[in-house]
Amino acid sequence: MNPAPVDDSAIAKALAHHAAHEADYLEELKKLVRIPSVSFEGFDKAQVRKSGEATCALMRAKGLQNVQLLEMPGAHPYAYGEWKNAPGRPTLLLYAHHDVQPAGETEKWRIPNPFEPVEIDGRLFGRGAADDKAGILVHIAAIDSWLKAHGALPVNVKMIIEGEEEAGSGSLPAFLKKHREMLQADAIVLTDTSNFETGLPSITTALRGIVTVQVEVKALRQPVHSGMWGGPVPDPTMALAKILARLCRDDGSIDLPGIYDKVRPLTEDEKQSIAALPTSDELFRKQAGMLPGLKLLGGRAPWEMNWRQPSIAVNAIQASSRKDARNIICESAWARVGIRTVPDMDVKEVAQKLTAALKKDPPFGVQVEVTPEGDGGWWYTKGDAPAFRAARKALKDGYGKEPVSIGCGGSIPFVEPFSRELGGAPALLIGVEDPYSNAHSENESLHLGDFAKAARSAIRFYAELVRAG
Ligand code: BES
Ligand code: MN
Ligand code: MN
Repeated sequence: MNPAPVDDSAIAKALAHHAAHEADYLEELKKLVRIPSVSFEGFDKAQVRKSGEATCALMRAKGLQNVQLLEMPGAHPYAYGEWKNAPGRPTLLLYAHHDVQPAGETEKWRIPNPFEPVEIDGRLFGRGAADDKAGILVHIAAIDSWLKAHGALPVNVKMIIEGEEEAGSGSLPAFLKKHREMLQADAIVLTDTSNFETGLPSITTALRGIVTVQVEVKALRQPVHSGMWGGPVPDPTMALAKILARLCRDDGSIDLPGIYDKVRPLTEDEKQSIAALPTSDELFRKQAGMLPGLKLLGGRAPWEMNWRQPSIAVNAIQASSRKDARNIICESAWARVGIRTVPDMDVKEVAQKLTAALKKDPPFGVQVEVTPEGDGGWWYTKGDAPAFRAARKALKDGYGKEPVSIGCGGSIPFVEPFSRELGGAPALLIGVEDPYSNAHSENESLHLGDFAKAARSAIRFYAELVRAG
């Protein structure tokens, strides 16, 4: 079979197919959103399998070959499909994930059911509509448009759609070992990040890593009456509060010995590139939903803080519950704590420092148990490989705007080990979310204009990559 031609008129033909079928791609996205594929422990695993199968069915229907679920023992399945009929042309590994975060509190959503997507004011609301089922459909729309318009793609593709990204990608190292042959590629394209602003195409060149632990403080065999026993009996929740408070200085910085020692300073170019981005402290505050009076921490540009400095967060605390709040001393208290890491921090070292600090000098002699939840490494690229030039051209034409390079405060555990496995193959992180997507929160949504622009850019990218030689 001959690969698709890559001249302007060939691209236009593929784009025309996309334009005529935008409604179909949106419908297919809605179908995926209707499957509540939450990958967290305690949710129905069958739904994640179902979304993997639905992703496979979509790949098959669009003409991908060798489509299958890739399984690791005890893990949610990856969906895989490929099209390798363009000999002599580059091979792209296309990544997205089909699992989603839990929906949070249903009452906080402006739609009745987070898994029944609704279009409001040019956005599609629903859990996973943006993160990351839109990513799946961007790849699918690009592939389908080329195959329908030309019966062929300009490049070879291997599409890999993860099922455990939101749960920390625990089986990734084993998966990589098992499938390294099959997944060889010249470049990786990930659609799982955000644009810097709606309509502003953005290439992400840095991701933070993450270390997460659970800490449990135990004091009593059972909760007791706080009047009858309070005084001589220590409160484990107070002990937990003291332990957590030790992790953070008054200025918000992390109070672990040596934690900042390996943080790589920004180059002059990197500083300038952040300073040149179209934003302000006010806009940042607004996008993050910060209330009046709340301080911006760090004394650096907010996006420099978010992309290139470590940060700490207490994700959840539990000791009794608001609903059951009554006059007791709890028997135990629990929290989940995460630290985001940046170049050149060592994830294992951070985990060890965090654990040591949590266990150090337990207040009142409480018992402290720390359980690590897994971790993922940071990733960084200069973004100067030829594939990046092709991506910038494709984005510029696809969005009608000059793209920007940005970092990302979030993590995608897949990226670092995979690009390393592929011998440092360029990883192009080109997302479809925007600052108003509310990923992980209630009212997640996808901007439908950017959904179309992202697909148009992907269509162009395949051709530009070939043209770049
Ligand atoms: N798509 C996000 C990563 C991301 C975050 C992109 C922020 C752009 C902006 C991804 O699905 C995600 O949420 N990753 C997790 C990884 C964790 C579970 C190891 C994260 O960052 O919390
Ligand atoms: Mn994601
Ligand atoms: Mn996510």
